[in-house]
Amino acid sequence: MFRTHNCGELRLKDVNKEVVLSGWVQKVRDKGGMTWIDLRDRYGITQLIFEEGKSDVALLSRAKKLGREYVVKAQGSVVERVAKNKNIPTGQIEIVVKHLEILNTSLVPPFIIEDETDGGEDLRMKYRYLDLRRNTVRNNLILRHKINQITRHYLDGQGFIEVETPVLIKSTPEGARDFVVPSRMNPGEFYALPQSPQTFKQLLMISGFDRYYQIVKCFRDEDLRADRQPEFTQIDCEMSFVDREIVLETFEGLTKYLFQEVLGISLKQFPRMSYHEAMNKYGSDKPDIRFEMLINSITEVAKGKGFNVFDQSDVVLAIVVPDGAEYSRKQIDTLTEWVKRPQIGAKGMVYVKCLPTGGYKSSVDKFYSTKDLKVWAEIAGAQSGDLILVLSGPKDSTQKAIGELRLEMGRRLKLMDPQIYSPLWVVDFPLLEWDDHTERYHAKHHPFTSPHRNDQHLLEENPGAVRANAYDLVINGVEIGGGSIRIHDRSLQQTMFKLLGFTEQEAKAQFGFLMQAFEYGAPPHGGIAFGFDRLCALMGGSESIRDYIAFPKNNAGRDVMIDSPSAISQEQLDELGLDIND
Ligand code: AMO
Repeated sequence: MFRTHNCGELRLKDVNKEVVLSGWVQKVRDKGGMTWIDLRDRYGITQLIFEEGKSDVALLSRAKKLGREYVVKAQGSVVERVAKNKNIPTGQIEIVVKHLEILNTSLVPPFIIEDETDGGEDLRMKYRYLDLRRNTVRNNLILRHKINQITRHYLDGQGFIEVETPVLIKSTPEGARDFVVPSRMNPGEFYALPQSPQTFKQLLMISGFDRYYQIVKCFRDEDLRADRQPEFTQIDCEMSFVDREIVLETFEGLTKYLFQEVLGISLKQFPRMSYHEAMNKYGSDKPDIRFEMLINSITEVAKGKGFNVFDQSDVVLAIVVPDGAEYSRKQIDTLTEWVKRPQIGAKGMVYVKCLPTGGYKSSVDKFYSTKDLKVWAEIAGAQSGDLILVLSGPKDSTQKAIGELRLEMGRRLKLMDPQIYSPLWVVDFPLLEWDDHTERYHAKHHPFTSPHRNDQHLLEENPGAVRANAYDLVINGVEIGGGSIRIHDRSLQQTMFKLLGFTEQEAKAQFGFLMQAFEYGAPPHGGIAFGFDRLCALMGGSESIRDYIAFPKNNAGRDVMIDSPSAISQEQLDELGLDIND
């Protein structure tokens, strides 16, 4: 028998029991006459004790020779500890060992396997199986497991059926880049890995499944960031005979249930905000509403006063930093440099200090009178003692830049409390987005999203103005999920493909199966997908989804542990009909 108990469960009530424990050696402390070993498993740490004079000589010498991460089995009796450790649940007892068996030895691990480790990110990724022995990393995966189970429980209770959809599918030109897989049996042809099961879940609605879900791997060949992995997991859902209200209600319900069950947090009703309001007030379609610092437009009053930079700008936008009037020249210069970084892209920044004495001091005093600046302060909602920061330029890029500046000020002023969760629905996204590069419209969400009922007449004459029947769930500035009510009518779907620049043949070749299915009684339907990794990271209090994925890829999309991607043999290439030297 390997164990009677695990390493986290023995307490004072177990004193005098004969027990067997198995686990890893976390630490050996050899203090001459006494040797202590911390034995660790998934459940905790239990102290083993060996005493000169009392323990068998051979046993003692075996204990002293144990190295870190050896796997051992120890048999002995539970005793009360003299020096108790209040920091661990088993800290009141220890095991006086009578038999010790080494089940396996271990090389010296390349980093310390404790909460505070000396291993850098790369090293820990290479030895991920060792990193996963650490409490913090393991607890993240346990949290993920819990969120997974509770999600299934909720969706099952709401009548959703889990259906698996294929992983080898067809490459499509919309969305991100596909990962492709060559087909041996069909030389020169490729499968693609799904970016999401979107079309399959719609087909399941046509099949009458009514409510589908799947906790499913998705694959996108896009540049990586803290919140993006090339393979990630979605909680993917679809429902028939529903309008937007029912979808939002069902998934607001899921979110509230998860926060209650996992974190004990009861969330209030989620506010809703239109895409335009989000962009105008927060400069982002995923606003962090834990703090205000709203963006105000001073375009009307700032233009036409002889300041060229503003006169040539489409918009002049301001935010107010409370009590910022005391910022030094250096602090303001640092912020100016920050907004000029290529990632933010502002050309410069104008400031106005609202002096406690009542006057104003600005970087544009030459062009604007005290009276002018007072009007700015009124529009921006600045009080005396505050600082107004102003960016100007084209509408979209300036909104985004000042949105980023707002977030940066939120970070600097510690306005984003990690203990607070502020969810909201962002609704009424534009259906289409013009792309200057390709000179055509792209679907803002995806080509299957239906236009807002009131905007359908604009499809021909002003497609850019059409709102989509789409919604995103945003929590603390993170896009947790997105979905829409779908098109279920063949001719509308065809119009949509036409707007996206597909010829009739192209649309048929890519999505003919779906359009045909629409002709066999497609019910009205809609759905949503949550980014499961992002949800776990958010609920666990981290910004990086990697911490919540057992075996993640690094920023270059590599798995450094298994060394992938990697070259394949000429034989494999030949078999697949691929000649990479061509
Ligand atoms: P969308 O593309 O918005 O919608 O994806 C849904 C959610 O998945 C998460 N997500 C990611 N998470 C980690 N790494 C990535 N590379 C990544 N890309 C996306 C985000 C996002 O909100 N089929 C539609 C859903 C629908 O319409 O029902 C879809 O995939 O949290």
